[in-house]
Amino acid sequence: MTEKFVAAIDQGTTSSRCIIFDQGGAIVAVDQREHRQIFPKPGWVEHDATEIWSKVQAVVAGALAKAGMRAEQLSALGITNQRETTVLWDRATGKPVHNAIVWQDTRTSALCARLGAEQGQDRFREATGLPLASYFSGPKVAWLLDDVPGLRTRAERGEIAFGTIDSWLIWNLTGGTEGGVHVTDVTNASRTLLMNLETLQWDSSILAAMNLPEAILPEIRSSAEVYGTAVGQLAGVPVASALGDQQAAIFGQACYDTGTAKNTYGTGSFLLLNTGNRPVPSKSGLITTVGYKIGDQAPVYCLEGSIAITGALVQWFRDQLGLIRSAAEIETLAASVEDNGGAYVVPAFSGLFAPYWRADARGVITGLTRYVTKAHLARAVLEATSWQTREVVDAMYQDSGVRITTLKVDGGMTVNRLLMQHQADVLGVPVIRPKVSETTCLGAAYAAGLATGVWAGLDELKAHWQRDEEWVPEMAAGVREREYGNWRKAVERSLGWHE
Ligand code: G3P
Repeated sequence: MTEKFVAAIDQGTTSSRCIIFDQGGAIVAVDQREHRQIFPKPGWVEHDATEIWSKVQAVVAGALAKAGMRAEQLSALGITNQRETTVLWDRATGKPVHNAIVWQDTRTSALCARLGAEQGQDRFREATGLPLASYFSGPKVAWLLDDVPGLRTRAERGEIAFGTIDSWLIWNLTGGTEGGVHVTDVTNASRTLLMNLETLQWDSSILAAMNLPEAILPEIRSSAEVYGTAVGQLAGVPVASALGDQQAAIFGQACYDTGTAKNTYGTGSFLLLNTGNRPVPSKSGLITTVGYKIGDQAPVYCLEGSIAITGALVQWFRDQLGLIRSAAEIETLAASVEDNGGAYVVPAFSGLFAPYWRADARGVITGLTRYVTKAHLARAVLEATSWQTREVVDAMYQDSGVRITTLKVDGGMTVNRLLMQHQADVLGVPVIRPKVSETTCLGAAYAAGLATGVWAGLDELKAHWQRDEEWVPEMAAGVREREYGNWRKAVERSLGWHE
């Protein structure tokens, strides 16, 4: 039997990577490149979608070169991506009409407040599983159509395409202006505030409420099916999966059973719990989202706790404050002291997401005395990630009655052992990292391989999952609850800073 290989592209918030996997789910080659973060005003975050597409092409070439492979040797290509980030492009020229508006961007807060003025922030929650918040794509599209002169008329004439990053990449990969397909998958569509969770179709009443023309929308497809065939450097390779990065991670972590959960620590952190074939509504500040849908099988839904800023706080500590030179250094600095010295950092840089959904929150540091050093702050920066995770785990229990007994983790910050220990301590459950921690790419590759017959089914994928390292709780319960109380007081202080 000839060995088969599947490639996955992970287009993330700060970088793009391409990983080639073998049939055992092991990594053959990786290539990665960063792209520019554009901050035109406080709270605004943009990306250049053209730059993203060229970085993606570069990492595909890089991974193939490192693997010593040609495109013909790939059985399939999977796509996973930063979610919600919104691109509008001209169908005739293939050029974006504006920089992409990134998920962290808060420019649509006032628009969201207006949309919720009478019926409240949960106006579209029953249909979409989401609160009205600047995080999601629909309001970003509305903002662009209003702000770019002449764009609304062109959009109504069918000249403009909207897509999250998956759509933008698939359209380009399959030919762009020369016949590219304009599709998205259910997981990405479930982050737009425009898709009905039951029908898995665009909701015309929400489109009307936001004044968005249907002509701009991609077709919604499953997460694992052949959308088209790539042209260019990947000529002939079936483009066979698309999942938002957090959904790809839960798929790559083999959380296929109801009640299983994972947390991915990237720019932000996103904890997803598989709730099976029915969407579970949240009353505790989580969101309901599509986990994955394999071809014509029933969709699997998740409850999600979305935390906007975790890894990005370490970057801020490094780049804006200059207190460390590399992200890795934070662990050594934090480990040089016993505790946080009484300091807490609440990184509400984009307001607070789950479980608060407060656009008016801004970052605060509390508990400062002259005793506090940069090492204590380094500790507080790391602890901000685990406390925010604790809050969404509590909300998950309230919503689902599922008490997480172990937490599968992945993403860049899981190399930080001090953080992983603190995470286990504040949750009071073991935290487990798998051998292949690149679960986002792995999930996209798995879905693409399922769609093209590389793998037979979920049981085969589950058998690939292997434990690497585990952290067990050591903190005394009394200490944990006292510190949690301090954290919550700090969160209170972060509210109400912005109109
Ligand atoms: O919802 C935003 C999320 O998809 C971003 O993930 O890993 O690019 O920070 P990441």
